[in-house]
Amino acid sequence: MEAVTTAQPLAVDQIHTNAILLESGPVTIRYLSDTEEDREFAAKVTIEAFERKVVHATSRGSIPDIQVYYANSLRGRQPTFYERHFIAEYDGQKAGSCVIRYHGDRELFPLRDEDMPPVGCTDMCGLFCMGLAANFEIYIAGKCCVDHIGVNSEFRGKGIGKVLLDMAEIDAKRKGCKAIYLYVATTNRAQHLYERQGYIIKERRTICCCGYWCMTGEREFARMEKILEGDKENC
Ligand SMILES: CC(C)(COP(=O)(O)OP(=O)(O)OC[C@H]1O[C@@H](n2cnc3c(N)ncnc32)[C@H](O)[C@@H]1OP(=O)(O)O)[C@@H](O)C(=O)NCCC(=O)NCCS
Repeated sequence: MEAVTTAQPLAVDQIHTNAILLESGPVTIRYLSDTEEDREFAAKVTIEAFERKVVHATSRGSIPDIQVYYANSLRGRQPTFYERHFIAEYDGQKAGSCVIRYHGDRELFPLRDEDMPPVGCTDMCGLFCMGLAANFEIYIAGKCCVDHIGVNSEFRGKGIGKVLLDMAEIDAKRKGCKAIYLYVATTNRAQHLYERQGYIIKERRTICCCGYWCMTGEREFARMEKILEGDKENC
């Protein structure tokens, strides 16, 4: 029988739009798309979620430029990149995002000079130091890393974070990962959510007297991990 083509090839910026990957009550999850609206939303929700750390490392005045930087870093990437970024909608309104990474992603999705924000030297230094502090280790082979997760303040406490973590876990299981992990400041109440999802603290990290404090405004971070059934060494 002759093959039938039912759809026109999609434009690059439509490849991942709108397909629902997971649904739970009013919450739906889909991939980030390479559209201005999605990039700006992801940048806003991420920088807002980490605003205290960003302001500590740089300055309040740098926030708009850093948001533009983050949005630029999401532009024109290969399709796999967008499959690592999930957008949560609540009753059809964009509400949160979650980014996962696998071993080798750092090389796959390099930082690009052209995305750098036009901030001053001091802020750039702070940004660099914050990057160093967050640079806990190269993404671990065989494990999925929840690189960051954020929900708009007006939507917090409605179960969106839980569904985003469920989505990350589904993806990690599909890839055969042995575990999924994340880093969280030990003062952050988000730990409650991670514990309910089955993550346990594997280690606590701090560096000398100032260490993470001068870089992020936090003194200690914990690595929390959840064991999955997978057996792939290089998921
Ligand atoms: C953490 C976060 C992603 C959770 O999303 P959410 O949709 O609010 O989560 P849920 O409704 O599924 O679960 C509620 C849990 O989220 C966490 N949470 C809720 N509001 C929070 C806030 N302002 N700051 C930190 N964690 C929060 C708590 O653990 C809460 O459980 P608790 O009420 O028993 O303490 C979201 O609150 C957020 O963006 N917080 C600020 C950024 C942040 O701390 N990100 C995590 C860095 S590791």
